[in-house]
Amino acid sequence: MNATRHGYARSVAGQILVTGGTGYIGSHTVVALLEDGHDVVIVDDLSNSSERAVDAITSITGRRPVFVRADVCDAERLDAVFAAGPVDAVLHFAARKSVAESVRDPDGYERVNVGGLRTLVDTMQRHDVHRLVFSSSCTVYGEPDHVPVDEDAPLRAVNPYGETKLAGERLLGDVAAGGGWSVVLLRYFNPIGAHPSGAIGEDPHGIPDNLVPYVMQVAAGRLAHLSVYGGDYPTRDGTCIRDYLHVVDLAEGHLAALDALDRLGPGCRAFNLGTGVGTTVLEVVAAAERAVGHPIPHRVVGRRPGDAAAVWADPARAEAELGWRARRDIDTMCADHWRWQSSHPEGFTG
Ligand code: UD1
Repeated sequence: MNATRHGYARSVAGQILVTGGTGYIGSHTVVALLEDGHDVVIVDDLSNSSERAVDAITSITGRRPVFVRADVCDAERLDAVFAAGPVDAVLHFAARKSVAESVRDPDGYERVNVGGLRTLVDTMQRHDVHRLVFSSSCTVYGEPDHVPVDEDAPLRAVNPYGETKLAGERLLGDVAAGGGWSVVLLRYFNPIGAHPSGAIGEDPHGIPDNLVPYVMQVAAGRLAHLSVYGGDYPTRDGTCIRDYLHVVDLAEGHLAALDALDRLGPGCRAFNLGTGVGTTVLEVVAAAERAVGHPIPHRVVGRRPGDAAAVWADPARAEAELGWRARRDIDTMCADHWRWQSSHPEGFTG
């Protein structure tokens, strides 16, 4: 067994299957895995990402992951990947993630996010692979009663996207209750930033829904101004508070979860991955302005329906049981995000 950067003995050594590995969080995690000595096979249908991410990952790490273009709902293709294996563990990122889109297409979200997970689990079962790290979201807490929110807070979905994440968590809880499986559910708060090389980053198609990609496109002159949704929340400056988390910290959280799978033993466990620090929308804008070096046009407008006033994580469980904590601050997040955005104004397609 090798010692890892987290100080724990590594319990998984071998090929890791990363579904959604060319996407935003997946690609950063693949970099972390390769740098940590793992062999990686990516399965991605490229529906919301680019194969150029594979080249960028290779240029950062000097190692090329195996790439298979396939949909996680395609049981035959998935089966072939496991048959070519061996696969030691799976990190499952492949999913759709836009709240607004999920309201327009709840069945599509159910098919990919829940159906795809079910297909993956069945395939893992057939191939005797029982270690899984699942991409969940703080959306499973809905509007929390208390902040910071810990993992024992009540779970509730407030939109179809959230319903699919909750359904995924429940499905995996049932699978693990059957015995023999080690599952970690990672509840991400608000991932932003990019690899410090600027070679990979978030590549949203169309006009972004999320705050930081939008702010950065305003900074780049592609969008005219930012609408700040609501200036009358009961917070220090009237704008909403979120727990923004550097995507490289998040990637390292997956390594810590992978290392923990066997050490924690069979079962299904949830961990918040956040910084524990809340930042307002106007504080994000100020940090982005420091990163880009010029003012970013913005104006306060009405609230966005469905937004909670303040959500941030209690990340204590991840620190105690995974040996992980976020290390990068909001200025680093914005500087790294801007490096990616300014060097790839059109994302991977530019
Ligand atoms: C959203 C999703 C959440 C998902 C997460 C992914 C909703 C209700 N929630 O979280 O399920 O897991 O993205 O990161 O959509 N804002 C503006 N102007 C903008 C965009 C956003 O002021 O143009 C504000 C929002 O009101 C919010 C904050 O910025 O207060 C963050 O918004 P966003 O990046 O969309 O994330 P969440 O809403 O926290």
